Amino acid sequence: MKRYDDLAAWRVARRSLEGVIGFVPTMGALHRGHASLIERSRAECDHTVLSIYVNPTQFNNPQDLQHYPRTLEADLAVARELGVDSVLTPDYPSLYPDGYRYRVDENAFSGRLCGAHRPGHFTGVLTVVMKLLNLVRPARAYFGEKDYQQYLLIRGMCESFFMDVDVVPCPTLREADGLAMSSRNALLDAEGRALAPTFARLLRSAEPDDAVARQLEAAGFVVDYVETHDARRFGAVVVRGSGREVRLIDNVLLPAATADRERAA
Ligand code: PAJ
Repeated sequence: MKRYDDLAAWRVARRSLEGVIGFVPTMGALHRGHASLIERSRAECDHTVLSIYVNPTQFNNPQDLQHYPRTLEADLAVARELGVDSVLTPDYPSLYPDGYRYRVDENAFSGRLCGAHRPGHFTGVLTVVMKLLNLVRPARAYFGEKDYQQYLLIRGMCESFFMDVDVVPCPTLREADGLAMSSRNALLDAEGRALAPTFARLLRSAEPDDAVARQLEAAGFVVDYVETHDARRFGAVVVRGSGREVRLIDNVLLPAATADRERAA
C-alpha cells in the first residue's frame, strides 16, 4: 500500500494507473462499515484508493470537529490489511489551495433533514467530494446508505456535472443490537451506548413520524428530526453523554404499509 500526503506526488502516480479504479472517501476512525465499502471496491475494481481526511468545511460545529475521533495509525493498518492499494491523507492547504473560495452548492435537498440542522454541511461535503473525485478519477466511488442524504446529493452532483463515475450505494452495517456503525459511536459513554440502539429500533416502528419522535424524546434522546421521504424514514438525534453531546443519524426503508400511511398524512 502506498500512502500519499503529497497531492502532487499522487497526481503523478495517478497518470500511470491502469484498469478500473475504485474509490472510498472517508474521514478515518475506520470501522467495519468503512471496511465493507473497501471490500466491495476490492472485489469490483483493479485498484482501490482510500482517502482519510477529516474535512473541516463540513463541520458546522467547531466542538464536533475538535472531538472527531482521529486514529490514523490504526486506520493505515486496517487499510493495509484490507488490501487498499493507495491511501490519500492530504492536509487542508493542499486540498483547499483557494482557501475554500470555490464551492459546490446544491440549493434544494441540501437544506432539508441534516442540512436544516447543520448549515453549510452539505456544501462542505459536496465540495470535498468533487475535489477528491477529480484527484482520483475513479470509475466507481463507494458510499454508505448510512448517510443516505449524502449519497443522494453526491449522486445528483455527479449527474448534474456529467462526471464520469458510478456512484455505488452500499448497505448500512450495524452492530448486533441494531445500532448503525459510526465513527461517532466511539464518543458515546456507557449510558449513551446502552440507549443508542433504541434509536434504530424506533425508526422501524409502524407508528407515524411524529409519534416516533415523541417516543425517542421520552426514551431520552433530543430529536433533530424524524421524517419519511420516498418510503425511507430518516432520523437524527442527540445523545447527551457525560459532558459531551453525540449526534447520531440513521435511516431505514419502511414496509410499504407504513410508508403509504406517512405519504397520506
Ligand atoms: P465517513 O463518515 O468517514 O464515512 C465514509 C463512508 O463510509 C461514507 O460513504 C459513509 O456513508 C460510509 N459509512 C459510514 N458508516 C457506515 C456503516 N455503518 N455502514 C456502511 N457504510 C458506512 O461520510 C463521510 O465520511 C464524509 O462526509 C466524506 C464523504 C468522506 C466527505 O468528507
